[in-house]
Order: sequence, then C-alpha cells, then structure tokens
Amino acid sequence: MTSNKPVIYLDHAATSWPKPPAVAEAMMEILLHGTANPGRGSHQMAVQSGRVLFGARKRLAKLFRIANPNDISFAANTTAALNLAIKGMLKPGDHVIATAVEHNSIRRPLEYLKASIGIGVTYIEATPEGEVRPEQVEQALTSRTALVAAAHSSNLLGSILPVEEIGSITRKRGIPLLVDAAQSAGVLDIDVEAMGIDLLAFPGHKALLGPQGTGGLYIHPRLDPVPLLHGGTGSQSESAEQPTVRPDRYEAGTPNTPGIAGLAAGVQYVMDQTTAAIHAKETELVSYLMEELASVPGLRLLGPAAGKPRTGIVSLTMAGVEASELSFILDQHYGIAVRSGYHCTPLAHYSAGTAETGAVRASVGYSTTKEDAESFLTAIREIRSHYPMQGQG
Ligand code: ALA
Repeated sequence: MTSNKPVIYLDHAATSWPKPPAVAEAMMEILLHGTANPGRGSHQMAVQSGRVLFGARKRLAKLFRIANPNDISFAANTTAALNLAIKGMLKPGDHVIATAVEHNSIRRPLEYLKASIGIGVTYIEATPEGEVRPEQVEQALTSRTALVAAAHSSNLLGSILPVEEIGSITRKRGIPLLVDAAQSAGVLDIDVEAMGIDLLAFPGHKALLGPQGTGGLYIHPRLDPVPLLHGGTGSQSESAEQPTVRPDRYEAGTPNTPGIAGLAAGVQYVMDQTTAAIHAKETELVSYLMEELASVPGLRLLGPAAGKPRTGIVSLTMAGVEASELSFILDQHYGIAVRSGYHCTPLAHYSAGTAETGAVRASVGYSTTKEDAESFLTAIREIRSHYPMQGQG
C-alpha cells in the first residue's frame, strides 16, 4: 500500500487479503530459522524443510479427503496445476468437455492443444446466470471424450456447478474429471472421492489464505499425466528419466517452501473456522448486498437469483457508467478495491451477455465485515445519484 488510508477490500476472488497473522508468522519462521532445500541433501535443516512440505500436504489431504497426501503436487498457482492436468492428460484426437463459464486457465490450454495437436473441445452452454445441468455433460460425451473439465464456481457469476453429479456421470464411464477449485477451495466442502474428482486444481492464495505463488494439483492414483516440467527432484538422480514416485514426478525444481509453510497455516485457519462457517458468513454478506442493490436503478446483478447457492461474488453493471470507470471511482474516491473488466473469463461474459460491456465484481472473503458491505452500498448509491442513466440527463 502506498498510503495509510484503509482499503475496503472486496477482491477476494482475485486473492484473499489480509491473511491471518499466523500465515506471515509461519513464513517468517521459515525464512529466519531455516529454509534449506527440501529433499536435496540429508542434513537436519533439509530434512526439516521436507517436513514442512509434507505437513502442508497432510493438511490439504485432510481438507479435501485425499487418502494419500503424496497425490498432491504443489504448483505455483491454479493455472500451473490446470496446465499440468490438461497438457499431461490429452493426446491428439482426444475430445474434452468443458463449460461456458471456464476461466482462461482452462480455456487457453484447451484452445492451444486444439490448434497444436488437434484435440476436440465442446463447451457446454451455461444459462446467463452461469448454471449448467449435469445431463448436458452426458449429452456432449463422445467415444473420444478423454477428459471433462469444469470450474467448481464461476469467478464472474459465483454460480456453483453440479460437480458431484457430473462426477457420478464421469466415474461410471471411467472418464477423468478435472475440477478448477479456484473459487471454491476453502469455502465449499470438497471431498474428492465422494464427488468423483480425479484431478483437483486449487490456489493457495485465495480462500485457503496462503500467499501468492502457491497452489497445487491432486491427481488420482489411477492417472499418470505426463509431467509438465522435467528436472531435478532430489530423488533417483542417477536416472535420466523423471521419477515415477509422487510427488517428485510433478515437482521438479526447488519448491516455494516459505510460501507452502504460509499455505499450511492458512489451511489450518480455514479448518479451525470450518469451510461451512466461512461459506455461511459469505452467503449472508452476499445476500445482504444483493437485496440492497436490487433497489438501485439501472443496476444489473449477474449470477444466480437471490437465494440460490453461490460463492462470495456479486458482479454487476450500472447503466450509463462503464465498468472500468465505476471501479476507478470506487477505488480512487471511496478506497474500495473491486475488479472490473473481463476477469479472464470471456466465456462467462458471453454467457451472461456482458461480453460488450464487461462488469464490476465485488467479492467478499473470510475477513469482510457488514461495515465493508455497507460502505460499498453507500458508494454505489452515491455514484448512481451522480451519474445519469443512458438517455437521461
Ligand atoms: N482468477 C482470478 C480472478 O478471478 C485472478 O480475479
């Protein structure tokens, strides 16, 4: 921050802030008292660093009900995890089903493979509210379908996709299901076995409350994606080939040990609070915002109707005020941080009918208060009263 003015932070869908103090403390501890290279060397400090990584894996495995923590590989972010899953799993001629609310972190690797090795991709339609039905997946299946990829929750619309129902369709047919948990890990209950999830890509820096530069991919033991990175792992060094043992197979290069220590502290915080309580709090805030915003003239609220399940996202357009201008005024005049534009999800904007205009997204998190929500409402009402709607004034 460049000033001491307090920020009303409503951009948790991009990254959570502030982090619980325990996250920074865990990182400081590692930086000050021992960040030897985990898995490289057998001296005590290196072994201790290895324990930090395994401790984080164990905690994440508990949260997502993953039987073997070594089936989780750390990655720099959700995008890196999704690239590993997508590029590691697909071969020329394969067919993939994704949805019309995907983030570019799924869409771009798929489109890249479509152009470079000739995969086929079907994006199943979403409603303007960002909802899809499991039967649509069933209808899109072909004999070549090798992967189904879906966001757990839209980062524009906040809609929650029926992952469990999709999982029961894919499990019956033995087709791997890849879930992008960028907006759900830490707020929605995720049980990879019960939900039929074979690949789970998650960010460390959003609702899991860790620092940026952390995330990971769970890979079901029956799958063996080709690693994205080949290189040093500190194991089977005499071999020219990437080790088969996990997580080494997918973790070439020195990991982000301080970041992962922070992530472990964030996950512990979430587990202590419980995802159910965090989601309930976010739902209450979002319901309040939607109820109040409904009476502001010229606002269009995107995403599922009030009362329907969603994550902590309220996206909107204001007639007569461009999205970029609205977010600029919120930031500069009111000190309110939101994200405007296309949110790296043009597909969801096409679905919502906002591909021409973009939108402003306010997103709440574990630390958002009712006062933060009220400040946002006051700002929106004031801005509305100062700007004429199109065709007026
Ligand atoms: N994917 C993140 C967002 O939705 C960065 O803002």
